[in-house]
Amino acid sequence: MAASETDRLIYGHRKYAALHLMLSRLIRHSSTPGSEYIYVTLGGTELRDVQSIRFIDPKLITKVFSFENRKERFHLAEKTVSNLQSHGLSIRLTHGSFFDYRRTEETPHIFFLDLEGICATWGGYDDKLGEMFQNEVIREGDLLLITSGLGRDKGIKEIFTAFSGEYSVLNVTDDGEARKLYRRSHPSFTLFKGLNKKGLLGELQVRCLGCIKYKDPKRFPMGLYGYAVTKGVTNLKKLVNDTNIQYFDMNHLQCCVLGDF
Ligand SMILES: C[S@@+](CC[C@H](N)C(=O)[O-])C[C@H]1O[C@@H](n2cnc3c(N)ncnc32)[C@H](O)[C@@H]1O
Repeated sequence: MAASETDRLIYGHRKYAALHLMLSRLIRHSSTPGSEYIYVTLGGTELRDVQSIRFIDPKLITKVFSFENRKERFHLAEKTVSNLQSHGLSIRLTHGSFFDYRRTEETPHIFFLDLEGICATWGGYDDKLGEMFQNEVIREGDLLLITSGLGRDKGIKEIFTAFSGEYSVLNVTDDGEARKLYRRSHPSFTLFKGLNKKGLLGELQVRCLGCIKYKDPKRFPMGLYGYAVTKGVTNLKKLVNDTNIQYFDMNHLQCCVLGDF
């Protein structure tokens, strides 16, 4: 059946407010002023994230690579892309997987893994991201944003099983503490796992700079997590407990403390 206009994937203001805040923080703390970036993102149908980044500075999107793996959404995204191209943007839209992006340029990248689901081992995201690190698709100098679902999760038993190694390093055995840590750190756990599986913990430092929770009307609660990648060592305790991580509650438009995330 052909895609209709009602299949368009439209998100609300909170998501983009979260994105704008996170971009500000990442750019402020981990980019050289005026530097150029290539932007790699998930399409959906509207590519609204591309519009926002372009407003901040077109040099942040000298090239855009957008991936959409659902055919009907890809066809709707094609229309959005041709409109953006007519305004001078360099965008390549691919009907395929984000994880198949092949890097051909040294120019630093901003990756936005704008998921609808949960960025955890269940979706194989540790392996997929690990491969991107191993193949130097994601490398030092890059920025990484991840959205991940904070609504229904797999239950504490499965969470403990999936991240047993991480909880063990962090010395967490209590269900309540584990769940709180999961909320604010599961994409960090996933990145850590990916690096660990590929033996890269001693080569790359992945630093979390912020976590923002938001909920758009009629959608599941989500978290947006921002990371900077540099040369160095990734230490799990620092990755999840770094005092430089800022927490924000977009539903109440205020910063929050780690324990309330
Ligand atoms: C949250 S939406 C993107 C929204 C878009 N960034 C925006 O702001 O308008 C995520 C999209 O990525 C697609 N998707 C999910 N995983 C993917 C993957 N691994 N590769 C390509 N597309 C994927 C989904 O079908 C969905 O349409």
